[in-house]
Amino acid sequence: MSTPTRILFVCLGNICRSPTAEGLFRHHVQAAGLQADFEIDSAGTGAWHAGEPPDRRMTQAAKKQGYALSGQARAVTPRDFGHFDHIFAMDADNLSTLLERCPAEHKAKVQLFRDYDPEARGASVPDPYYGGPAGFDEVVAIVDRTSGQILEALSAAGSK
Ligand code: 4NP
Repeated sequence: MSTPTRILFVCLGNICRSPTAEGLFRHHVQAAGLQADFEIDSAGTGAWHAGEPPDRRMTQAAKKQGYALSGQARAVTPRDFGHFDHIFAMDADNLSTLLERCPAEHKAKVQLFRDYDPEARGASVPDPYYGGPAGFDEVVAIVDRTSGQILEALSAAGSK
């Protein structure tokens, strides 16, 4: 069996946006019967929430759309840049932070998540942490369509 394509989603705290991307991308992969082809994880550029589950408000917004979120927050490590094949930053600030930390030979793996959003290419996923509940619903909608597009793009490219 060939090795899976390894995907990492990265936001600031790893309790809102990137666990949503991890959960919804995993859902799309499972719906397509491709679970053996992908290893999927998420992390934060910050470590303040390490060990915590996804934010309860984020989990509730995902659940309303039929998606379950899971996992424990962790910070990005130097090893991640070698281990993963694709690293998706949820916003422009985290993209900059990742590119600063990433060794030159792995920089091509690091991309902006919404470069795959047909409705707003190159935009950031807004940080919902300090906003109202509408922000969490918006994150779910953005992440839902964009993670589906990422899976299509990777599948069309034969993955890796
Ligand atoms: P996330 O949201 O980066 O989508 O997980 C945030 C979570 C926590 C904080 C900021 C954003 N914080 O400042 O603690």
